[in-house]
Amino acid sequence: MDIRPAVIGDAPAACEVLRRSIVELCAPDHRNEPAILEQWLANKTPEIVASWIGKPGTTMLLAVEDDAVLGVGSVTDAGEITLNYVSPDARLRGVSRTLIGALEDRARHLGNARCHLSSTETARQFYLGLGYTEDGPPACKFGTTGGYPMSKALVT
Ligand SMILES: CC(C)(COP(=O)(O)OP(=O)(O)OC[C@H]1O[C@@H](n2cnc3c(N)ncnc32)[C@H](O)[C@@H]1OP(=O)(O)O)[C@@H](O)C(=O)NCCC(=O)NCCS
Repeated sequence: MDIRPAVIGDAPAACEVLRRSIVELCAPDHRNEPAILEQWLANKTPEIVASWIGKPGTTMLLAVEDDAVLGVGSVTDAGEITLNYVSPDARLRGVSRTLIGALEDRARHLGNARCHLSSTETARQFYLGLGYTEDGPPACKFGTTGGYPMSKALVT
């Protein structure tokens, strides 16, 4: 598995990973409620994902194996992790741990002392295991149960 920056041509495959990850892995958050899923997936189109790739102030990284996209992550220049989604085909293989490490490296390189994110219910234990702590109550975005504000100090 390699970690590399996303390029525009990756948008369809990255979008498919985002959509499958939400639908198939995030049931603890959306509870298979169509209205929640519809809102969550509304901006997960190839065109919109393409607009996020190379967007100033944001770095999108992919975990890839051969031609397959296994994971999609992004971080802003201010150290906010805005995407971290793993393909259901590649769960529990260390893909997300590796991707988060690369996003944290990017944030550190840009001078940030902490990374911030809003965690799904699905990923909450995963982030706690990586050393993130909760900073407040969940925001319940789109009517989900998640949206836990979390952060972690970056070791220099
Ligand atoms: C949560 C998610 C990102 C984890 O990705 P992953 O690639 O399967 O995780 P990794 O294989 O890197 O796991 C790293 C460690 O976290 C643990 N872990 C992973 N998912 C976990 C979970 N849901 N609950 C508890 N522990 C978990 C693993 O067991 C592993 O522990 P270990 O190092 O002690 O063996 C993935 O399930 C996912 O994409 N979920 C849906 C999208 C999502 O919720 N993204 C977060 C948006 S904020």
